Amino acid sequence: MTQQQPRVLSGVQPTGALHLGNWLGAIRNWVDLQDSHDTFFCVVDLHAITVPHDPDRLAEDTLSTAALYLACGIDPARSTVFVQSQVPAHSELCWLLNCVTPLNWLERMIQFKEKALKQGDAVSTGLLDYPVLMAADILLYDADRVPVGDDQKQHLELARDIAQQRINARFAPNPDQPLLKVPEPLILKEGARVMSLTDGRAKMSKSDPNEGSRISLLDPPELITRKIKRAKTDPVLGLEFGNPERPEADNLLSLYALLSGRSREAVAVECAAMGWGQFKPLLAEAAVEALRPLQASYAEWRRDPATLEAVLEQGRQRAQDVAGVTLARVRQALGFLAPGRPDQG
Ligand code: AMP
Ligand code: TRP
Repeated sequence: MTQQQPRVLSGVQPTGALHLGNWLGAIRNWVDLQDSHDTFFCVVDLHAITVPHDPDRLAEDTLSTAALYLACGIDPARSTVFVQSQVPAHSELCWLLNCVTPLNWLERMIQFKEKALKQGDAVSTGLLDYPVLMAADILLYDADRVPVGDDQKQHLELARDIAQQRINARFAPNPDQPLLKVPEPLILKEGARVMSLTDGRAKMSKSDPNEGSRISLLDPPELITRKIKRAKTDPVLGLEFGNPERPEADNLLSLYALLSGRSREAVAVECAAMGWGQFKPLLAEAAVEALRPLQASYAEWRRDPATLEAVLEQGRQRAQDVAGVTLARVRQALGFLAPGRPDQG
C-alpha cells in the first residue's frame, strides 16, 4: 500500500443481496487491482437511502455487503474497506459539489430518469443528487481509476466534469496544481453488463421484483439450479455469441465462459450445437462451483463479527485520514473560515 501506486475507489450499495452482475461486472475486477493499486472499497449506504428503505435492514445489509467484499477476495491487509456513512467527509464534500453542479447535468442522468419513472411521485431529492454523492466518494480519495460496470459510465463522466470544470477550473489557485484528481473509469469488456435471466434485453438488477431474474451470490445450489432451469430461452438449437436476435443465448453463454473460467472461443465451440436442455445443467454447475468458495468464506466472516467490525473500523480510520485532507483542501479553496484558528490579532 505505498503512496506511489495509483489509487482505486469503488463501491456497491447495500440494497438487497448482491448478484452475479455486481460480482462479474465490478467486485471481481477489484480483486486483481489490489496487486498494483492502493485500493479503497466502500459500502455506499448513503446511496442506499435514495430510494425508500427499511431501517431495520440497513445495518445488517451493510455488514453483509462488507462480508461479501471480503468473501470475494478483497484483502483487508491490502485494501481499505469501509462504510461510506461512517466517514462524514462524503456528505460534506457532496454539499460543496452540489453548490457548483448545474441542475440540468443531473436531470439528464439516464439512471435517474429510469428510477424516477418507476417511482412516480415519490422521487426524493437524494435520488437526483445521487451522482454528486458518488462524485464526492471518488474525488475525496484522489482516485485514479474507478472500476465499475457499464451502467455507471455516465456517472463517472459527471464526476470528471465536476472535478475539472466546476472545481479545478474555477477554484484551483494554480492551474498546474489541480485541486481534485480527475478519475478514469475502468470498465472491463467481459461481464460489464450481465443481463436478466428472464429477459436478455434487461440488465440483471437488485430492484427487479422477480427474484428469478437474478442469481444472488448467496443463493443455495438448488435455487441456482432452479433459476437457471427456468431462465428464458428461444426455440433455436445451439448457443452462440453476438446474435442480436438471441440476447438470452449471448448472455447465458457469456455467463458460462466467465463462471467456468474458460475462453469465449472454447465455450462457443463446445456449445455450438448444444440444445438448451443439455446446456442449462452445465451452466448451473459452473455457477454453483464458482460461488461455492465465496459462500464458504462469507459464512466464515459472518461467524466472526468482531473481526469484521475491526476490519471496518480500521478502514474507517484510514479512509477518514485520506478524505479529511482532500476536504480541507477544497474548503480552503472555496474560501471557508478555518475552524479554531488562533486569533491573529
Ligand atoms: P449497484 O448494485 O447498483 O450498487 O451496483 C454495484 C456495481 O455493480 C456497479 O459497479 C455496477 O456497475 C455493477 N453492476 C450492477 N448491475 C450489473 C450488471 N447487471 N452487470 C454488470 N455490472 C453490474
Ligand atoms: N452508483 C454506484 C452503483 O450503483 C455505486 C457507487 C457509489 C460507486 N459511489 C461510488 C461506484 C463510487 C464507484 C465509485 O453502482
